[in-house]
Amino acid sequence: MRNIYSNIIKFNLSNLTKIIDILKKDGILGLPTETVYGLAGNAYSEKAINKIYNSKRRVKKNPLIVHYYDLKQASKDVILDQNFLKIYKKLSPGPLTYIVKKKTGSKIKPMASANLKTVGIRFPNNKIIRKILKKLDFPLVMPSANISASISPISSRDVVEEFKNKIKVVDGGLSKIGIESTVLNLVGNISILRPGLITPEQIKNILRKKINFSTNNKIIKSPGTLKKHYSPNIKMLLNKKKCPEQYAFITFGSKYPVTRNSFNLSKKSNLNEAAKNLYKLFRIIKKKKYKKIYVAPIPKNGVGYAINDRLKHAAR
Ligand code: TXA
Ligand code: MG
Repeated sequence: MRNIYSNIIKFNLSNLTKIIDILKKDGILGLPTETVYGLAGNAYSEKAINKIYNSKRRVKKNPLIVHYYDLKQASKDVILDQNFLKIYKKLSPGPLTYIVKKKTGSKIKPMASANLKTVGIRFPNNKIIRKILKKLDFPLVMPSANISASISPISSRDVVEEFKNKIKVVDGGLSKIGIESTVLNLVGNISILRPGLITPEQIKNILRKKINFSTNNKIIKSPGTLKKHYSPNIKMLLNKKKCPEQYAFITFGSKYPVTRNSFNLSKKSNLNEAAKNLYKLFRIIKKKKYKKIYVAPIPKNGVGYAINDRLKHAAR
């Protein structure tokens, strides 16, 4: 069998032409973004979208995010209102997904967004993905490049370890942020469907409106946030101050002793650093075949809220 790591492609001019060619021909491949690596395909092609759902083993009712280079591209497919424009000006490109209404005549294939009337759109902020999007005359659907319900990838090696020889992946180093984008619903009541680096306070300050965390809202929800998710598939116990030595202990801050079984998210108690290390530590712990993971309390402010959200989902 071919070495799986030979599926990692360097980003250079001649490969850019090859990447564009793969995407134009309804192919799919792993691409870096600033949040996590995505599994990319043409959002206007049913063939590409089908390949993505099948390779990820993702249920078809869980909609994908459509990624654009800029406003001009996006305005062809979706309705962009004043709220959207205010936030876009301040926070895009960046780790924020907007749920907006689809235009009639939009070229986005209905199956990309699970036949909903809304679409999740994002403008990623990573040099490589922006160079690729700029060259294309269609947007890219890009779910995280992992088998459904497993850990999101933050390096090209993580991606090939998920899909083995089935797909190629463009190397863009380690993802800068390390957890998925904030999902912000702008249809009806404005709400955060998936927390991330961008906080409701930031959105509130831009819109001067109250925002809810409505991940439990029955009316509008992100289907992808419902079930067990982001999971290393190991029993996980949260908010623990101590851990038996045979289990892995995910800690935060300087007050925990350094032991063979301890894995610190950030010794400096820096939440951004913790977000970046979360999935990395999940993968390391999984490779070491620990049977249980204990997790120390993590502060809930700023991106800490999103870290706690991912831990809660992983521990279900
Ligand atoms: O950071 C990210 O967003 C990464 C990178 C690759 O861009 N992508 C990502 O995609 O995390 P995915 O498919 O793993 O997560 C998309 C989330 C899911 O929870 C999905 O249910 C939600 O967005 N979503 C997408 N379209 C939606 C819609 N129309 N209404 C409600 N939720 C939607
Ligand atoms: Mg995902």
